[in-house]
Amino acid sequence: MSDEKKMFKVTIDNITIEVEPGTSILNAARMIGGEVAPPAMCYYTKLKGSGGKCRTCLVEVAQGSTADPRPMPKLVASCRTNIMDGMVVKNITSEKVIDARKGVVEFLLINHPLDCPICDQAGECHLQDLSYEHGASGTRYQFPRRTFEKHDLGPYIQLHMTRCIMCFRCVYTADQVTNRRVHGILDRGEHAEIATYIKTALDNDFIGNVIDVCPVGALTDKTFRFKNRVWFLKPVDAHRDCPKCSGKVQLWYRGDEVFRVTARKDEFGEVEDWICNDCRFEKKKTADWVIEGPSKIDRHSVISANHYVGAHKPTEIEPEVMGRPPRLLMDIHSVSQVNQPSVDLSLLPGPAHSDDFNGKEK
Ligand code: SF4
Ligand code: FES
Repeated sequence: MSDEKKMFKVTIDNITIEVEPGTSILNAARMIGGEVAPPAMCYYTKLKGSGGKCRTCLVEVAQGSTADPRPMPKLVASCRTNIMDGMVVKNITSEKVIDARKGVVEFLLINHPLDCPICDQAGECHLQDLSYEHGASGTRYQFPRRTFEKHDLGPYIQLHMTRCIMCFRCVYTADQVTNRRVHGILDRGEHAEIATYIKTALDNDFIGNVIDVCPVGALTDKTFRFKNRVWFLKPVDAHRDCPKCSGKVQLWYRGDEVFRVTARKDEFGEVEDWICNDCRFEKKKTADWVIEGPSKIDRHSVISANHYVGAHKPTEIEPEVMGRPPRLLMDIHSVSQVNQPSVDLSLLPGPAHSDDFNGKEK
């Protein structure tokens, strides 16, 4: 008998690939990549048992398998449904899926406070991306949103329960990555909340990873809170010889100051290597790290905004359009005294600040 493993054929959005038996639809779609990969708010490759909570990854199975070609009667969660040989799946090519996803986003936003302007997760929030890409422009919800009693989770982690979407990722992380879980989901349904049962700080060695897995701004880094916007920072890959973890991180710089340290993430926003609390919270000096170079950032990410390397400045076209030089050309720089032409904005490390124009040292 041949040792060769039988592979399963699957067609997703008209693209056919072969995958190993036991592969989920979501992971098969991720192999194709791009828009074919459904969004996932609760599934996390590294966390056993994750998925099946948020329903953002719903897809249509137009043909169950070659052996039984009947379609599946309802949309299925792609993170929890495995490929069968000859399966045909529709993601962005299915109107039903697009419509259902819009409905899921509406549900996820029912209790979400939409406080993006003051939320530290803004710019890297999966719910923000999901609602831009799949949501409706308005809400039909007219009732008060849920509120919770505040829980203090200690010096490192800030909990904003109103932003939580109950994805369970932080609970699985504490269970599987740290040596002691002291938080979980208390109560059920509308009253369910992330909390520690008796007032306890989350401070065991690897607990900072809950910040990276949280898809929204419910768990954020207290040491970075309100200090900067992510799109003003420059992420740089760095490592150190850490006795506890891989020591492979991203440092987030503005100028020469490290504002925060996070784990590195892959193209689906999932952590590549868990990092310990020491690396994340205690090592915020460049001297602590060996710098590898600028991190690769998806060009669609807001984090890649504001960097104008290689930009071509437009040429003045007024004389050409008017057929003569303009008689009066107001120089906005000399009038406003704000933007001085001598200051090259593209060379500033971050957004311009008034100190950049008045010659003051920052
Ligand atoms: S706090 Fe964040 S990671 Fe935890 S369940 Fe809520 S949304 Fe998910
Ligand atoms: S990612 Fe599949 S249900 Fe949440």
